Amino acid sequence: MIDLQAFAKYKEEYKATLSNPDLMTEEELEDRAMKFFLMNTSEGPEKIVEKLTPMLSSVQIVGMDEAKDIITRDIRLRAAVETEQKLILLEGPSGVAKTTLVEAIVKESLIKYPDIFEFHRIDTTTITRHVTTTAILINEFFYIIRSSKKKVILFVDEADECFRTRYNAGAIALERTSNIMKQFNNEIPNLYIICATNRPKMIDKAILERFQSRINCPMPTWPELRNIIDLHMLFVKDKYRESMHHYFITSPFKWSGRDIQLLSKTFKEIIQSNKLDDSDYTLTPEIITLEITRKASSKMHLKDDYLEDE
Ligand SMILES: Nc1ncnc2c1ncn2[C@@H]1O[C@H](COP(=O)(O)OP(=O)(O)OP(=O)(O)O)[C@@H](O)[C@H]1O
Ligand SMILES: [Mg+2]
Repeated sequence: MIDLQAFAKYKEEYKATLSNPDLMTEEELEDRAMKFFLMNTSEGPEKIVEKLTPMLSSVQIVGMDEAKDIITRDIRLRAAVETEQKLILLEGPSGVAKTTLVEAIVKESLIKYPDIFEFHRIDTTTITRHVTTTAILINEFFYIIRSSKKKVILFVDEADECFRTRYNAGAIALERTSNIMKQFNNEIPNLYIICATNRPKMIDKAILERFQSRINCPMPTWPELRNIIDLHMLFVKDKYRESMHHYFITSPFKWSGRDIQLLSKTFKEIIQSNKLDDSDYTLTPEIITLEITRKASSKMHLKDDYLEDE
């Protein structure tokens, strides 16, 4: 339950911290104040851990060894000693488990070191409104991080959005990138910033230069893809799964873990709808081949849609 009286008081205090509160509508002000109110009151570390729900644990994620090693090592070190601010970037194609890996390792670290770390994430929606309010939102966000009593792990997913290059950028993107960069320059001890992107070329050059590590997260190799198929398709009969391995190895496309995970969802739906119909129609090799072919053809479209040179 929200203590409305306490919130009303908080809102007034919050309003007093704004240099130009008239730039926000009453609704926006209420919205922002509520967010910070909740952050400062009811959002204990347990809640944050609960909210992080990666689909897999870090051990289950196949491959991604370099990223796993670096992040795990960094966090272990940071738990033990005082460190300087560090900024790293995971870059690689869409669907190779960048987001899932970061969420999994962070969740496991928050459980392992509940008194040491605090987790925050930013995306463009949390720090963008109008041009004039973007700087305020970014300042507020970093104010919370600066005043944290714990060591902060900050996750910037889709980093190409938050750090969009200022070259040819619109006013909001320009404002956002410049203000975040100012915050990064005013370093916060112990702050660990993990960023992820599938479009590193869209990131502002000045920010790219600030990454201590840029970790390549490639598409899975064939043996890795085999393990990913086994992980996500465990419910498919062994002999059919064997033929799936064969299909993927001979396919002209590059398959990501997400492709496999999405296909596994389709297969699960087929099995379920089957039970609803109460027929004896099962997941047959023909259906498996049909669905994989469909997925392959949707990848063909993607190739046309997607700006590969970005
Ligand atoms: N190496 C892998 N091992 C196991 N599962 C994987 C792997 N790669 C992808 N997956 C599956 O694909 C899902 C999607 O991955 P995720 O969203 O983390 O990819 P991403 O790299 O962040 O993509 P994007 O660049 O589009 O944000 C994962 O939750 C997982 O189920
Ligand atoms: Mg992602």
